[in-house]
Amino acid sequence: MARRFVVGTGWKMNLLARDVPPYAARLGERLRAMPPADIDMFVLPPFTSLHAARVAFAGSPVRLGAQNMHWEASGAWTGEISAAMLVEAGCTYVALGHSERLAYFAETYDLVRRKASAALRAGLTPILCVGESSDERQAGVADIALERQVGCVLEGCEHIADVVIAYEPRWAIGQQQAASVAYVADRHGALRRFAASRYGDAVAQRLRIIYGGSVTPANGAELIAGGADVDGLFIGRAAWTADGFAEMIAIVSAAATSASDRLQQGRAEHGGAGSDPHSG
Ligand code: PGA
Repeated sequence: MARRFVVGTGWKMNLLARDVPPYAARLGERLRAMPPADIDMFVLPPFTSLHAARVAFAGSPVRLGAQNMHWEASGAWTGEISAAMLVEAGCTYVALGHSERLAYFAETYDLVRRKASAALRAGLTPILCVGESSDERQAGVADIALERQVGCVLEGCEHIADVVIAYEPRWAIGQQQAASVAYVADRHGALRRFAASRYGDAVAQRLRIIYGGSVTPANGAELIAGGADVDGLFIGRAAWTADGFAEMIAIVSAAATSASDRLQQGRAEHGGAGSDPHSG
């Protein structure tokens, strides 16, 4: 089954509710000036800007998500937000296990697992963030660390194929430079092979694996074209303006168009189905 490309941005602790209408209006303008984008798009505003985003993005192909949630459905959890609350607020996605949550809020992959299954049960698409540390990369154990993280979080989960995995090397987030194209392609390939061995080939072929960490309009095109296992981009700083996000959408959309052209060409040349995983 074909995988649809996906591009999204986490706003982190940025953009007040009042900043959302101008962002959405400008993005809408930019999207209308582009060929229709046959890809999935999302923004993850702070909780307090979700309502404004729901209103401002109404009728737009851009879907909403949250940056975190609690694993229980309700209860005495001061300051927390449940999956049902996110669904009610208009969310389709929720990012889980972002490295800033792990580093500054003592989250663990055990907690992320509980959140992921609660999100899936509520019908949300988890954007499951995983990534090796700089020490793990230097020790040459990045893939082992990634397997441990994914294996822990998805253990016992149903609907695993619906998860979006965001591969975000911790050493590449918020930096001047992204990971190299070849490095990203290798990690994505290893993640997909791990998923095939653990959850079966059918699940692995549907699972979308997107890259995040210092993605910009300057490096986005080569990152997305870097390997058949790169299914999209997850962007922080470079998409905190509507124009920045529009640039990234244009890049991912162009990648989707090329994949579809390759497929058509393959069909014409061989008279059968092409093998590009991103079209069909
Ligand atoms: P960045 O953030 O694009 O600003 O590096 C990425 C992320 O934290 O997901």
